[in-house]
Amino acid sequence: MRTFRVMIIFTVVLIFFYTTLHLEVTSSPKSAPEMLTELLDLPPQVQFQDRITVPQPKVLNVNVSDSFKQTITQNKAYWNRLLYSALKNQGKERSPPRSGSDWSSCKVTDQELLRTNVHDFNSYNPLLQDFVQSMNCRTPPVLINQPKKCFSAGEDKEDEKILLLGIKSTPAHFERRQAVRETWGQERVNKTGLRVRTVFLMGRPQVDDPDLSLLLSFEAGLFGDILQWDFHESFLNLTLKMSAFLQWTLTYCPHVTFVFSGDDDVFVNTPLLLTYLQSLGSSEASKLYSGHVIRQASPIRDPRSKYYIPMSYYDGPYPQYVGGGGFLVSGALLESFYSVSQIIPFYPIDDAYTGMCFNALGVIPQSHEGFYTFEIKEESRQSLCVHKGLILTHQHSPQQLKRLWRGIHSPFLTC
Ligand SMILES: *[C@@H]1O[C@H](CO)[C@@H](O)[C@H](O)[C@H]1NC(C)=O
Ligand SMILES: *[C@@H]1O[C@H](CO)[C@@H](O)[C@H](O)[C@H]1NC(C)=O
Repeated sequence: MRTFRVMIIFTVVLIFFYTTLHLEVTSSPKSAPEMLTELLDLPPQVQFQDRITVPQPKVLNVNVSDSFKQTITQNKAYWNRLLYSALKNQGKERSPPRSGSDWSSCKVTDQELLRTNVHDFNSYNPLLQDFVQSMNCRTPPVLINQPKKCFSAGEDKEDEKILLLGIKSTPAHFERRQAVRETWGQERVNKTGLRVRTVFLMGRPQVDDPDLSLLLSFEAGLFGDILQWDFHESFLNLTLKMSAFLQWTLTYCPHVTFVFSGDDDVFVNTPLLLTYLQSLGSSEASKLYSGHVIRQASPIRDPRSKYYIPMSYYDGPYPQYVGGGGFLVSGALLESFYSVSQIIPFYPIDDAYTGMCFNALGVIPQSHEGFYTFEIKEESRQSLCVHKGLILTHQHSPQQLKRLWRGIHSPFLTC
């Protein structure tokens, strides 16, 4: 009898408990960031505001070099025509900025217009069609921000020298990011005073990908190094990613000394990179655009390649550019880089686009043999002595990053 009574009380309590639980669940559907902030007591530097629009940085008056106009001529191709029409309008009053500042309506939806402008538009593959339609979409709202990334709490460090690592990643690459954090991307202050700051750059997953937003918010809260924008991850959106990162840096990290931009599967010998940066004279340090220079390249005209560019879209060679796997830019160049990118139409290949912008500014890419993004032999890929002497190699697994990092720091390594 007694046990029966206890059981009844227990059941009532349980029912009550579940009802309140249920009520709680149905009454306030919380957003993932809200849930996380509550659950985890997140550090204050993380901002989970929805869709912040980064203010447009100041646009300087820049001259487009003659050598750029000689390399990329005026002809019938769509991109070339867009470029020359932008150059013609350059001196005229700039109202409003050409770049789609209204993110929701920047896409060209008038197919008729596109077919008039690009006679074989229908034969472009769907991704490229998509790119051509969204070439004016340039200011994606920020979904996960790190506004304090370049400021140290409570310290006035205006004169501090910062090396900002902007690493191109995608939401699903958790493991790669963790390997980078544990190895070359560690945030630290070098004895000589250069402070390393790291951010991972990403858009949103594709429509058919699983929803990773909760995990990403968690990761951002834990490490404070995720920057995410409201655009779909896609190979052809890398120029947009680069441009968004540039806008972000000019806004939130305006005093940066050097920016390194690279992929999340490269290995960087950070100590060697820092030594190199410290060794630069002030004039060199202020006009750095360096890495593995690619000379005399032209668009790939094979429709089966993912880099395929049709003649009707772009007609001409590429100016010299630095391979996008990993390269360096001086902070002092960012404002003019951004300004000239307001004139030069977006191009689907991000490193070629960056090269165009610097060529237009008259900045000559500098080759550094430590940036090794050629095909590398399998035994060299694993070799510690090879990596001890190079600044950057590419296409590594997370495990390889860890092995190489441990290896080059070993006191027993003799080369
Ligand atoms: C780039 O992102 C935008 C915004 O999400 C999207 O509309 C567009 O389709 C993407 N472009 C490509 C080429 O995937
Ligand atoms: C700081 O930089 C110097 C070279 O400038 C390098 O030898 C040293 O290992 C670096 N220290 C740290 C802690 O990264």
